[in-house]
Amino acid sequence: MTNRLFLTTAATVLAVSGLIGAAAPATPVGTKGAAGAGDPLLPLSGDGGLHVRHYALTLAYQPKAQHLDATAVLSATATQDLSGFDLDLAGLDVRRVTVDGAVVPFSRVGQKLQISLADTVADGADFTVTVDYGGTPHPIIDADGTSDGWTALPGARGAFVAGEPQGAMTWFPCNGHPVDKSTYDVTVTVPQGYTAVSNGVLRTQHTAAGRSTFSWHESAPMAAYLATASVGRFDVRQYWTGRLPVYTAVDPAEKNDADEVLDQLPAVIAWESSLFGPYPFDAAGAIVMHDKTIGYALETQTRPLYDEAPDLDTLVHETAHQWFGDSVTISRWRDIWLNEGFATYAEWMWDAAHGGATPHARLAQLYARPAADQLWAYPPADPGQLSRLFGVPSYARGAMALQELREAVGDQAFFAVLRQWTAAHRHGHGTTAQFEALSAAVSGKNLDALFATWLYSAGKPTKM
Ligand code: TRP
Ligand code: ZN
Repeated sequence: MTNRLFLTTAATVLAVSGLIGAAAPATPVGTKGAAGAGDPLLPLSGDGGLHVRHYALTLAYQPKAQHLDATAVLSATATQDLSGFDLDLAGLDVRRVTVDGAVVPFSRVGQKLQISLADTVADGADFTVTVDYGGTPHPIIDADGTSDGWTALPGARGAFVAGEPQGAMTWFPCNGHPVDKSTYDVTVTVPQGYTAVSNGVLRTQHTAAGRSTFSWHESAPMAAYLATASVGRFDVRQYWTGRLPVYTAVDPAEKNDADEVLDQLPAVIAWESSLFGPYPFDAAGAIVMHDKTIGYALETQTRPLYDEAPDLDTLVHETAHQWFGDSVTISRWRDIWLNEGFATYAEWMWDAAHGGATPHARLAQLYARPAADQLWAYPPADPGQLSRLFGVPSYARGAMALQELREAVGDQAFFAVLRQWTAAHRHGHGTTAQFEALSAAVSGKNLDALFATWLYSAGKPTKM
């Protein structure tokens, strides 16, 4: 998205303001589940030994003290015999952990909350983990200098809560890798006057004794990084578009700029549905904060989170992520172009449909950039390092790869591929190899050379 140009500035501001992430241990922590979910880009993230089916999070947040007090109830299933397992949790104090109601020992090692089980949980068995915890959450500073996680805004203005790629663990104990997807209930209590906005549908809201409680329900599987519970003094609007409930929460300081763009949300959803297939979730909306230091937006499931009033391209981008990233989720970070390349390509198509440059013209314009340009710094399907995850190639060269595909297979096959992709992997996961195979199957063409050039080869391809 367009705001990423400001990332360096944002990172500098966060660094000097003293916000730091939790120190990671030098070597992966041995676990009795699996040592991380096995992602080379974030080796500590997740635990391959369990699947969390549902998170029930009950949070109380005080914006002034920046204090969080919480209970997390995880309904989990063992995916191997377990004598213990690890959750991700960075910072915060854990008061008590129970498994199926019995208090169990735990320890904290870096970002891991290591939990021991009295009796082995057999592969396939369900169990319930309850964690009582609290403290002041701090965001993680990522390898590219940006920060993610629970970010308190100064002056008791609330909190910007975005978790990509690893910030979910700054506010709840989780199986933090996107390979695991779960449904959520998030209940947040804040001082009266504040609104806490999470994913999905608002089930109940009540105010008593100076405190307001908001209960949210996300019924579709969601990766932890897409969860939010952002807090602010928002201007809230609720309406229906067709059968879809829309909930927008906008910081009053951004209202003038935000309203005219957010008014387009139903049109953007309808237009993207016509290209990508039915909208995958049972709710929609937006959260618009007012903060110059964050520097990016995030496609939080059903309800994207913006650091400031988005421009229309950014709205189109984050909405496209609802299909590409949120419903169809990557199972390793290396495949990030499946998120960012597709969301960028959606912007190209929107612009073309509204009098702007054609995707072919965008491709040609980008191709004209010199070989030393950062556009060619790494192949989109092989970023290699975490610091490159949100670099230009993931976005622009990813979109170029899609335009190359479209020109090779024709519009009919290309749009069939997009729709079959979102249908076949709906509410699940997809890999680059699966996308390549689907493209070849639908078009009946051998696309190996095209993908080798546009997804995997280093440097600027010798021809467009
Ligand atoms: N996925 C976001 C988008 O493009 C961007 C994003 C999320 C990001 N987390 C980030 C960019 C961290 C840079 C750093 O919509
Ligand atoms: Zn994006």
